[in-house]
Amino acid sequence: MPRHQLTINGKNRRIDVDHADTPLLWVLRDELQLCGSKYGCGKGLCGACTVHVDGQATRSCQLPVSGLAGRKITTIEGLDARGQHPLQQAWVAHDVAQCGYCQAGQIMQAAALLKANPRPSDAEIDAAMAGNLCRCGTQLRIRAAIKSVAGRVA
Ligand code: FES
Ligand code: FES
Repeated sequence: MPRHQLTINGKNRRIDVDHADTPLLWVLRDELQLCGSKYGCGKGLCGACTVHVDGQATRSCQLPVSGLAGRKITTIEGLDARGQHPLQQAWVAHDVAQCGYCQAGQIMQAAALLKANPRPSDAEIDAAMAGNLCRCGTQLRIRAAIKSVAGRVA
């Protein structure tokens, strides 16, 4: 069985999976019990599975585990050790989540946006978040939460 060495949330993890093209999302959820990243579409179309790879927001359902050696992977569980990242606090303050299914992906996408662009305009937020779908219609609260921490995410 192929063995893969991954760096996830600052820890080295050795993963044994049958197939080299097993997507990272399956490894996170089924092998490591990091279940914050969600399966929505499995086709890179919804953003529910978004994690960071070397700081970039990336759809983990589209990433074969075999291509990730030496890359730095961060999931929602590792965004902040205490779950107190400014965006997580803003999500609570703005009561963003409804069913919650998409929200880990939304926060990871937003965190990558604010790293690259600490004070985004409404249009820049909408453009950056457009690929993260929310069937509950929380987009306006997501935008408000992101704006509330603009300039505070390092
Ligand atoms: S589950 Fe990965 S983009 Fe939808
Ligand atoms: S909060 Fe339900 S899908 Fe986004």
